[in-house]
Amino acid sequence: MEKSSASKKEISSREVVMADHDRLKTEIAGLSISNPVILASGVMGTTPGGLSRVASAGAGGVTSKSLGLDPRSGHPSPNVVEVAGGYLNAMGLPNPGVEEYVQELRGNDIEATLFGSVYGQSPEEFRRAAKLLAPEVDGIELNLSCPHAEKLGSAIGTDPRLVENIVHSIAREIDKPLFAKLTPNVADIRKIGKAAEAGGADGIVAINTLKGMAIDVTTMRPILGNKSGGLSGPAIHPVAVKSVYDLYERLSIPVIGAGGVETGEDLIELILAGASAVQIGTAVATKGMSVFKELNSFLFDYLNSRELSLSDLVGKAHEC
Ligand code: FUM
Repeated sequence: MEKSSASKKEISSREVVMADHDRLKTEIAGLSISNPVILASGVMGTTPGGLSRVASAGAGGVTSKSLGLDPRSGHPSPNVVEVAGGYLNAMGLPNPGVEEYVQELRGNDIEATLFGSVYGQSPEEFRRAAKLLAPEVDGIELNLSCPHAEKLGSAIGTDPRLVENIVHSIAREIDKPLFAKLTPNVADIRKIGKAAEAGGADGIVAINTLKGMAIDVTTMRPILGNKSGGLSGPAIHPVAVKSVYDLYERLSIPVIGAGGVETGEDLIELILAGASAVQIGTAVATKGMSVFKELNSFLFDYLNSRELSLSDLVGKAHEC
C-alpha cells in the first residue's frame, strides 16, 4: 500500500518536472525549440564539437560560425579588444568552409535546434552555401550584417533590394526555415526587415554588432588588426531592444533578439519588445556556459510567479 502511494507521488513530481520544461518550450517559424535561449553565431561555433558542448550546457538552440564557400583565415590579430560596456571584435569571418563543416557535422550529435549561418559576396554565393548546409541543420541564418568584412555582411545587408534578392534566391530552394540576421548600422532597420520578409524570410535575427573602433593612445594607432570592428556586449543592449521593438511592430514573421544579453532581466526585456527567442554571444565569453541554465531558470521563475506562458510575454510591451 505504502509503496504504491509513494510511486504515485514520484509520478506526479515527474509530471511537474515535465510541465516545467514545457513552460520554456517555444516554436519559431515551425521549429520546435526546447527553450528560447540560443547560442549566437561567432562564439563556440567554429567546430560542431563546440556547438555540442553548448547544447549540453542547456541552450535551446545553437548557431554555427558563419560559413562561406571557401575556407577563410580571417583578419590579422589583434582580433578582440575589451572596451567600456563590451568588446570590439574583427575576426574577419574565419571558418573552414561550408563543405568541410558539413563533413564535421555528420559525426556530431547536437542535442539542440541547430542553425547554420552562411555568408557570401553575392546572391549566388549565399545560395550555394545555404544549399550545401541546409540538409544538415534545422534552420539557416543569413549573415547579412558582419560590419567589418569588405564586400560581405553589412556591405550587403544595408541595401534593401540586395537583401530581398538574396533571401528570395534561397527561400525557394531550401526546405528549412530561413532567418535573416540584420545589421543595426542603418538609418531604419524596419526597411531591411521588410525587404527580408518580402524575399520570403521565415524569421529575423536582430541585431549583429555595431561598427566601432579603439585607438591606443601610446602607439597612436587603431588597436584591432583590421583597424575597426563590431561592438558587442551590454553597451548595445538598448539598441537591440529598440530594433526588436520596431521590427515586431512592422513585420509578420517572428524576430529572434540578440544584443548584449547578460542577465535574466535583459532576456525578458527583449522578449517583451517582441523577441520569440534570444541569442547569447558575448555573455558566453564573459560568464561561461552556465549562462544558459542561469537565464532559463530566471525566465522560468518569472513566468511561473506571474502564471504566464512564454507566448504571453512575447511583445507584451506593445500593449500600452
Ligand atoms: O568577424 C567575424 O567573424 C564576425 C562576424 C559577424 O559579426 O557577423
